[in-house]
Amino acid sequence: MSEQTGGTRAVQAGTPRPPRAEMVRDIYLAGISGQRPKLSTDLTTLEEAARAVLEPHAHAYIAGDAGTGTTGHVNREAFERWRLLPRMWKGVSERDMSVTLFGQRLDAPVLLAPVAAQTVAHPEGELASVRAAAEVGLPFVLSSFSSHSMEDVAKAAGSEPRWYQLYWPNDPEVAESLVRRIAPAGYAAIVVTVDNPTFGYRPCDMDTAYIPFVHGQGIANFTSDPAFQARLPEGGGTMAAVGQWAQISSNPTLTWDDLPRLRSWTDLPILIKGVQHPDDARKALASGADGVVVSNHGGRQLDGGVAALDALPAVRAALGPDVPVLMDSGVRTGTDVVKALALGADAILFGRPYLYGLALDGQAGVEHVLRCLLADLDLAMTLTGSRTIADITRDLVVPSGPLT
Ligand code: FNR
Ligand code: LAC
Repeated sequence: MSEQTGGTRAVQAGTPRPPRAEMVRDIYLAGISGQRPKLSTDLTTLEEAARAVLEPHAHAYIAGDAGTGTTGHVNREAFERWRLLPRMWKGVSERDMSVTLFGQRLDAPVLLAPVAAQTVAHPEGELASVRAAAEVGLPFVLSSFSSHSMEDVAKAAGSEPRWYQLYWPNDPEVAESLVRRIAPAGYAAIVVTVDNPTFGYRPCDMDTAYIPFVHGQGIANFTSDPAFQARLPEGGGTMAAVGQWAQISSNPTLTWDDLPRLRSWTDLPILIKGVQHPDDARKALASGADGVVVSNHGGRQLDGGVAALDALPAVRAALGPDVPVLMDSGVRTGTDVVKALALGADAILFGRPYLYGLALDGQAGVEHVLRCLLADLDLAMTLTGSRTIADITRDLVVPSGPLT
């Protein structure tokens, strides 16, 4: 693995960054001397570009959906159905896209979604992604199923904020041991994913007979855990660890009554990811969670499900204006972020596009993708007449079709 450190941070955490839209000006200026961006600035094209550099099984794991792909399809289609109705002459020379969640100030309403086993995309995996996130100033959400341990990823992230995504193992001692490592490693919130009591029916992965974990990728938080290690036979090697991981990593027994147990292990804010029904959002809060992520896992779990964007307004209505509600699944552009915020999200998790950037150009590729999204968001705020995130209100979006 190369010693890529992310360099000296041009901007320290917490200090204001230049307007994100300046990236666009810089591109045109560089064009005077014949330079062009290495990767496309149209993030929707990166999946095809990544297909050319990834092994077929790796592309299938990252890009693939459950079943016939209809949930993944409607995730995008829902964004198409809502149209922006921009407002003019609102004095938009300066924009502030910062938000505060759980008392934590974020530069922008964007976090990197937890994505497992990132060494499938690039040998540096999560280390490259977290360095890119830190460089651009966005929080990284680390998957439980990462290829580098939470402590190693924390070292690479430096002082930028980071959150941890929990898959709650069915072994109570390993579960508690993992959870008790999260705060000391500097993660500032726990995102508990509830839409994966088991992996969905994924023909794309079955047809290449590939899932990273059985090859020993994505289990580093477990192999670095003392309670997990205590379960392994002497000298068992990777296959013993994989076998043990497979036995304990999913937990279909969980109910809302279990959440107080997690609460007793940690003081960190807890978000429940994968909520789609407003009653589940209410149950999450009643059981001790501090916020939710409306998500269908990017269509990777239940085929035929509702679009995450379509589930969002009812969840926001159920929880009221003050509970943090995030969303993901299908966000590809800055204007998508504006639509999600107008429909009730406080922030979004950005998923597959940054993995394509990682596959195409490592840390620099992830940085490119994140900078493009933020420039697009900054311009979308400017063009819709939104100086601050609070200005992105429900009346900025209308259903597609003639206005009445
Ligand atoms: C994911 N996602 C995910 N979610 C989670 O909570 N823990 C995980 O380990 C993973 N792993 C994972 C791997 C891969 C390859 C992908 C693409 C996604 C889901 C992720 O956090 C997010 O919900 C989706 O990526 C959102 O969909 P889009 O916008 O990326 O299509
Ligand atoms: C996935 C799991 C790991 O979507 O969340 O592949």
